[in-house]
Amino acid sequence: MSLDATIGSLKAEISAAVAAAADEGAIEAVRVAALGKKGSVSALLASLGSMAPDERKTAGATINALKTEVTALIEAKASVLKRAALDARLAAERVDVTLPVRAPATAEGRIHPISQVIDEITAIFSDMGFSIAEGPDIETDWYNFTALNFPEGHPAREMHDTFFMAPSPDGVKRVLRTHTSPVQVRTMLKSNEKPEAAYLTPAIDPPIRVVMPGRTYRHDSDQTHTPMFHQVEGLVIDKQSHIGQLRWVLEEFLKAFFEVEAVTLRFRPSFFPFTEPSMEVDVQCDRSGAEVKIGEGTDWLEILGCGMVHPNVLRNCGLDPDVYQGFAWGMGIDRLAMLKYGMNDLRAFFDADKRWLDHYGFRPLDLPTLFGGLSS
Ligand code: DAH
Repeated sequence: MSLDATIGSLKAEISAAVAAAADEGAIEAVRVAALGKKGSVSALLASLGSMAPDERKTAGATINALKTEVTALIEAKASVLKRAALDARLAAERVDVTLPVRAPATAEGRIHPISQVIDEITAIFSDMGFSIAEGPDIETDWYNFTALNFPEGHPAREMHDTFFMAPSPDGVKRVLRTHTSPVQVRTMLKSNEKPEAAYLTPAIDPPIRVVMPGRTYRHDSDQTHTPMFHQVEGLVIDKQSHIGQLRWVLEEFLKAFFEVEAVTLRFRPSFFPFTEPSMEVDVQCDRSGAEVKIGEGTDWLEILGCGMVHPNVLRNCGLDPDVYQGFAWGMGIDRLAMLKYGMNDLRAFFDADKRWLDHYGFRPLDLPTLFGGLSS
């Protein structure tokens, strides 16, 4: 075949392929087949090398003209296809700017009343100069009972409806802590750590003023009890701490927490192994309406347990009861939350029902502070 004939048929062939290319991928394939390293037009150009100089001159001009023509043809089609692809994408990905904006997490999310109440308690006691401490949920029998002056086999151990852990290989008996009181023990032990161990955990020297919120566990479940619940413990140790201070701290706390001008407390004798004397505290309230009102009325509501720390507990924690004395108290956070925010079924706290949380939850950025208002 003459060169002209070859060029003619190649041009026809490439033109047909260009016309048939329906998308960017197809036109790229046509380009590679014609102009790529092993393309048909490139092969023709390579054949110039084996031609006689005269022949090469005319053939070179014709083949290069073909190359220019084919290149233009392919580029034109490629740009048409590129434009078409962009138009198709823009049509498919169009954003409907009239759609409502989705609310951000800070507007939708809610803080659980338990978390809110823990933050409120922390804010109040921090303002009174207390530190916050925490301990483990899985506690040894020694911290949960023995150190707190519960003798081995004492009925009070059963009164706690304890969840006992399976015996562990190290022989240490463990329980799910039945109260936050073991954190008292941990705090006092830390306070008189030997100097060589002090670098491990910074020691808190007496006077100790600490509150300890956390989860607690008992085998119990009804409208006002759940197997997991929350307590907050308070502990003050000094050389001259006394019940008058205990009473003041509790009154100040309850006034701040319930956001009322005054509260009236009633102390009743009670028994806890770790305090002597031990007392239960009732707060005056009005229960005539749908909601319990604290600080008014003629009713009494039991709200916490407290007492002077038993000398045995001080001794177990390495403090000399002839030098130090202190007071402690413990109360249910869930119960405080129910009273303050008018919820009547504790089990709902742990149902993870979004409608309940929307109703009783708190906005994430409304942090409770004494100056900004605890629950406003
Ligand atoms: N730990 C007690 C309980 O769970 C509550 C309690 C009572 C804590 C008296 C105290 C206290 O610190 O002094 O029933």
